[in-house]
Amino acid sequence: MINKCTCFLVLISFFNTASAQEKNIERKIDSLISLMTLEEKVGMIHANSSFTSGGVPRLGIPELITSDGPHGVRVEHGRDWDYTNDNVDDAGTYLPTGIGLAATWNTKLGYEFGKVLANEAKARGKDVILGPGVNIIRTPLNGRNFEYLSEDPYLNARMAVGYIKGVQDQGISASVKHYIANNQEKDRNTIDVNMSDRALHEIYLPGFKAAVLEGDVNTVMGSYNKFRGQWAAQNHYLINQILKGQWGFKGVLISDWGAIHNTMEALYNGTDIEFGSEFTLPKGAGYNDFFLADTVISLVKDKKVPVAIIDEKVRRILRIMYKTNMLENAKRTPGAFATPAHFKKALEIAEESIVLLKNENNILPLNAKKIKTIAVIGLNAKRPHAFGGGSSHVKAKYEITPLQGIERYFAGKAKVVYADGYEIKRGAVANPQLINEAVKLATNADQVIFVGGWHHGYDYTKWEEKAYDTEGEDKPDMKLPSGQDELIKALLKVKPNTINIMMGGGPVDMSAWIKDAAVVVQAWYPGMEGGTALANIIFGKTNPSGKLPVTFPVKLEDSPAHKLAAYPGTNGVTYYSEDIFVGYRYFDTYQVKPQFAFGHGLSYTQFKYDDIKVLVQPDSTIKITFNLKNTGKKAGYETAQLYVAALNPTIARPVKELKGFEKVWLNPGEAKQVSVSCSLEAFKYFDEKKSNWTLTKGNYQILIGASSTDIKLSGDLKF
Ligand code: BGC
Repeated sequence: MINKCTCFLVLISFFNTASAQEKNIERKIDSLISLMTLEEKVGMIHANSSFTSGGVPRLGIPELITSDGPHGVRVEHGRDWDYTNDNVDDAGTYLPTGIGLAATWNTKLGYEFGKVLANEAKARGKDVILGPGVNIIRTPLNGRNFEYLSEDPYLNARMAVGYIKGVQDQGISASVKHYIANNQEKDRNTIDVNMSDRALHEIYLPGFKAAVLEGDVNTVMGSYNKFRGQWAAQNHYLINQILKGQWGFKGVLISDWGAIHNTMEALYNGTDIEFGSEFTLPKGAGYNDFFLADTVISLVKDKKVPVAIIDEKVRRILRIMYKTNMLENAKRTPGAFATPAHFKKALEIAEESIVLLKNENNILPLNAKKIKTIAVIGLNAKRPHAFGGGSSHVKAKYEITPLQGIERYFAGKAKVVYADGYEIKRGAVANPQLINEAVKLATNADQVIFVGGWHHGYDYTKWEEKAYDTEGEDKPDMKLPSGQDELIKALLKVKPNTINIMMGGGPVDMSAWIKDAAVVVQAWYPGMEGGTALANIIFGKTNPSGKLPVTFPVKLEDSPAHKLAAYPGTNGVTYYSEDIFVGYRYFDTYQVKPQFAFGHGLSYTQFKYDDIKVLVQPDSTIKITFNLKNTGKKAGYETAQLYVAALNPTIARPVKELKGFEKVWLNPGEAKQVSVSCSLEAFKYFDEKKSNWTLTKGNYQILIGASSTDIKLSGDLKF
């Protein structure tokens, strides 16, 4: 399926809407293109090394240099996957990973995150940072959930836009990825994903749409999988019709590394730069053998493809080059790499990302003064994570592990003892000897802190190490690996007040011990200052404020894709039969009790919500105001969430959907009037018959909650 006229139409519509400055740049681009040979043009639309596409030195057009992303600038690997070059300073800032960023529910931090990343990229001579990853978290098993943001399209979009603006305001391009439906790593290179148009528009597209329309993202990365039978990175419907057509995307669609499979579709269906085909082409193939390389030159010379198709791709590349000061000897502002200011941001983000899931009897925060001996148990307490997980691996300047964080906090004033408790290797089960050692330490300690959960390998190249939370494969189930359940149970028996800290890119099945555990903390992969952030929270220097960006189910079978056996697909094809009921949209609508609800997260203080007012403004924006008071004794943040609910809908709708939130800082006793607004769009659903968003007349509710299941206030609305 190839549509030959769409790209010309996209070009015509661009000219009708462009500003004078944009038109001027287009004219400059025309003139550059007119000076280029066919070979030079084609050189720009495919990779000429593992992470660059070709430039035209005689015309002052540089190579486009890309780098992963998304939570730090990737370790250097030379032009052709050579990791041995030690002559380069590539140990930089390692930020908390995507799901942690989303757990902050702080769009300003999203911006700060992007800003740090872009400044480091700039200092390292990169032009494009390959992030953010915004694929919807559909199953807890997906190996890349740690890189992604949320199960909810609204939260996803808000955090993505902050991140992209933070990157691009520094004069570097972001690349929102992976467009689209790369929601599982299992069979990611072959799986054909199918879903209804409604699920596509309501759940899976909004993050990308906001990245384009609000974030003005410069590049979009097409994913590995197929979508409705056609490869996503060369997909007519997704790229020509939606991305470049409906959304008017003017930037560059790059392929994921090795996501291109044939020349004609890539040429006509909107791929602008082909990367990474060295992975898919026969061994020994060079960059000129790529699908968008020499073959294209022959096709144009043989008049089988008009050169205008190539020109349009080159135009897009030049456009983002102008936008990011890469042409005409323009100067970029200098970047900054591995600076104390960046490390401080990493700490700030980590502190706001950590979620206090359970805290019976206010066991946390601990009073450090009362502790003489503290036992820290669990390999994740001393395991660095920066260099694991796949293409997002980062060489961190340093990484404070939880154990180091705790030791530093005590600074010798208490005895900190440690035991592994479990081992990390594939297929490991509970190890009685390690458990006994741990229990012995725990018994003699005043306080026990367990740090476990998922992990990813230290080293991307050591495959035997990479067991969970990693690109290229999904987790086998939601159960804690290495017999950690047995260990936790044994610890809780001797110390019921054990603080249980879970690291990783999402939920684990806690049913074996949750009833007996008084305290559970979700730490994600908290970046280079994670250990400091955790210690600050545990001992009360920082009041936790993270909220879950995904539902934590009791067990895997409760989560919709698994309940309906819609994962991982059969014979290479998957249909997302849970449709729009992803995450809390399913749990809340079908009344399946989660372990911890979407949006949940405790604080060391308490908040009181009252006095809601719902006001429809003359421009039909809906303004909701309410009072929020800190009724406890500690200053802290609360993230108030706005959900909308259609009452008695005539079509299937989730019982509530997130459409706004506000993170508010309140001192003890302080009250603020909080205002959250949403537009009429928030009440619409995607009508497949009309192929458009529709608002049905009827009664609606505005719900204000501390989580999706902890609704504090409601107001009525009628359209
Ligand atoms: C990943 C992308 C990444 C690219 C380059 C691919 O395998 O899916 O997210 O940006 O490699 O490293």
